[in-house]
Amino acid sequence: MSVLIVAPGRDSEAWVEALKNQHPGMNIYTYPEEHEPEEVEFALTWNHPRGLFKNYPNLKVIASMGAGVDHILSDNSLPENVAITRVVDETLTEDMGDFVLSQVMNHIRNLHGYVKSQYKKQWDRSQYKRPQNTNVGIMGLGVLGNAVADKLHKNFFKVSGWSKTEKDCDNVTSYYGKDQLEEFLNNSEILVCLLPLTEDTENILNEDLFDMLPEGAYVINVARGEHLVEHDLMKMIDNGHLSGASLDVFREEPLPEEHPFWEHDRINITPHIASVTKPESVVPQIAENYDRMKENQDLKNKVEMERGY
Ligand code: NDP
Ligand code: OXD
Repeated sequence: MSVLIVAPGRDSEAWVEALKNQHPGMNIYTYPEEHEPEEVEFALTWNHPRGLFKNYPNLKVIASMGAGVDHILSDNSLPENVAITRVVDETLTEDMGDFVLSQVMNHIRNLHGYVKSQYKKQWDRSQYKRPQNTNVGIMGLGVLGNAVADKLHKNFFKVSGWSKTEKDCDNVTSYYGKDQLEEFLNNSEILVCLLPLTEDTENILNEDLFDMLPEGAYVINVARGEHLVEHDLMKMIDNGHLSGASLDVFREEPLPEEHPFWEHDRINITPHIASVTKPESVVPQIAENYDRMKENQDLKNKVEMERGY
């Protein structure tokens, strides 16, 4: 019985080392190292080559190296009855809270703007809003959305959230479902996307949705590039309806050199770095699930296949 790590472009050795420290007896292969597919029952992956897993007749679990599982579920040749798990991790969650708080503060205090002024040697002072007077709307009130909401609330922002099902959260005005989307958006001066990528949420950040935001709203996308209709964002910034955007995720990563976002004055880019899984922090839950699989027990952080997250 073996574990296969499939993570092209990532440092697989760091995962092997962390897993071996956690679970010394584990037999691990790193794709494309030579191995017998029949031996593999558990795969740990990020962005595997499409179609790969159908060659593993005894595969029982595919574990995502991150919180999102869209990179696994978008492969329509996955073996039937394989379970999929994702990461839920305190460090990942805290880091997302810190990142979004930084972006929100950066926006209300115009720090990106002053960097640009400095390049031009311009002394441009602008008015600023205080957190107490700023409404932030978070799309997705799951593990990460909740943590972000909590962090923003503790920093005196007025926070609302939108999810699929009804929530009863302290300190967050909660909206749910398509019927309440407009009301949620109407009040979101800063919109943060923390939705999973599913059939329902793909292209959700589009012109119609932006139109429902207040004039001058700012968009922060830390979820997936496929949530955003890129052309619609540029149109709504260029016509002045939106004041700008911070984007951490893109349809194509790395963002191609010729992409217009790089040069856009009101778009701030970070390289999918909002929150990154640290192997040593995450391997205990991976190793535990490996043992649970062997003992036919329920897995932790298992994805609900019908809803896709
Ligand atoms: P969760 O599964 O915990 O939460 C997802 C939330 O989205 C839930 O509140 C869910 O509602 C809501 N949701 C899902 N579908 C819909 C819908 N159709 N309409 C309204 N709400 C919906 O996910 P996480 O918080 O752990 O992660 C969110 C995403 O963040 C990941 O999928 C990943 O893409 C991204 N991410 C980005 C990182 C980065 O560095 N940029 C790092 C880590 C993650 P309900 O609660 O009702 O089910
Ligand atoms: C994740 C990510 O889903 O890093 O964990 O995007």
